[in-house]
Amino acid sequence: THQWRGLIEEYRDRLPVSAATPVVTLLEGGTPLVPAQVLSERTGCDVFLKVEGANPTGSFKDRGMTMAISKAKEAGAQAVICASTGNTSASAAAYAVRAGLVCAVLVPQGKIALGKMGQALVHGSRILQVDGNFDDCLTLARELSENYPVALVNSVNPVRIEGQKTAAFEIVDMLGDAPDIHVLPVGNAGNITAYWKGYREYAKDGLATRTPRMWGFQASGSAPIVDGAPVLKPQTIATAIRIGNPASWAFAEAARDESGGLIDKVTDRQILAAYRLLAAQEGVFVEPASAASVAGLLAKAEAGLVDAGQRIVCTVTGNGLKDPDWAVAGAPQPQVVPVNAQAAAQRLGLLD
Ligand code: F0G
Repeated sequence: THQWRGLIEEYRDRLPVSAATPVVTLLEGGTPLVPAQVLSERTGCDVFLKVEGANPTGSFKDRGMTMAISKAKEAGAQAVICASTGNTSASAAAYAVRAGLVCAVLVPQGKIALGKMGQALVHGSRILQVDGNFDDCLTLARELSENYPVALVNSVNPVRIEGQKTAAFEIVDMLGDAPDIHVLPVGNAGNITAYWKGYREYAKDGLATRTPRMWGFQASGSAPIVDGAPVLKPQTIATAIRIGNPASWAFAEAARDESGGLIDKVTDRQILAAYRLLAAQEGVFVEPASAASVAGLLAKAEAGLVDAGQRIVCTVTGNGLKDPDWAVAGAPQPQVVPVNAQAAAQRLGLLD
């Protein structure tokens, strides 16, 4: 059989698992690395999209969660908890089902996309909306995990980073070497930390000749790393990265500095433009936060800061179906027609 076996089996020797670890998997990872024609033309580079929305619950979180839930199960946990802007909770809820664990979820009230809420609900997690932002949720989740019998599965749990680093392995395995630049959105900063770890491990072991420059992009209303101070009231339409005090802040700065990269910010307007470009011109439907990577790349290219001929990978972190409001917003309602081919052809513009 040729079915992808899930990232723990595929990269077992590079992960902290043993024969005693019960592998909890939905066969995550092995996601498409799609050549992006329009982005390549615009930048003069070879641009690829690492489409993480193709994971089982529709985001890259599944990479970390297969590890976090497997290790929680191995340690004998009965329950897990996470704070989330939506995707972590969707993933934790699904993997907890597979493991037979209780899943508790803390989300910022009114600030997570409907699709993600639906996932946490349908997978049977215990959800609380917290009267606060993501950073408040994480503080509360940490406190609960320290004082009650419940294991924390946020990316402050190092095994989450271990799982997520496999995306860098997959990219090098596909391309034959690391790209020149790797671009991704930054929220709590776990993912940029994980990719950097993955790239470094492959280079150290001779599986890549180099490491890429790491380019991270925050939303301008939620850009503590760029602004140099926590943001007390983070704002952005990209709710997944509406985070004012990232837990992996220092690791993200290390990834930036050690790789010769950068962390910058993009406006909601730039995010939405990239979101629409990806869908309308590349055929790839991502959620708004995911488009921050592409928005950042385009902004740098327009500023003349991207040399032609480079190989660039943008991670698009979550599926567009998670948060379809932005696809529908501002678009005209499709017209209603009778069951009549000529009328339909006319409205479709097929007669001229
Ligand atoms: N993109 C999406 C779609 C996300 O859901 C997240 C984070 C990020 C990017 C940023 O990744 O936090 O590792 O820097 N979502 C978390 C959650 C916070 O709760 O689902 P990061």
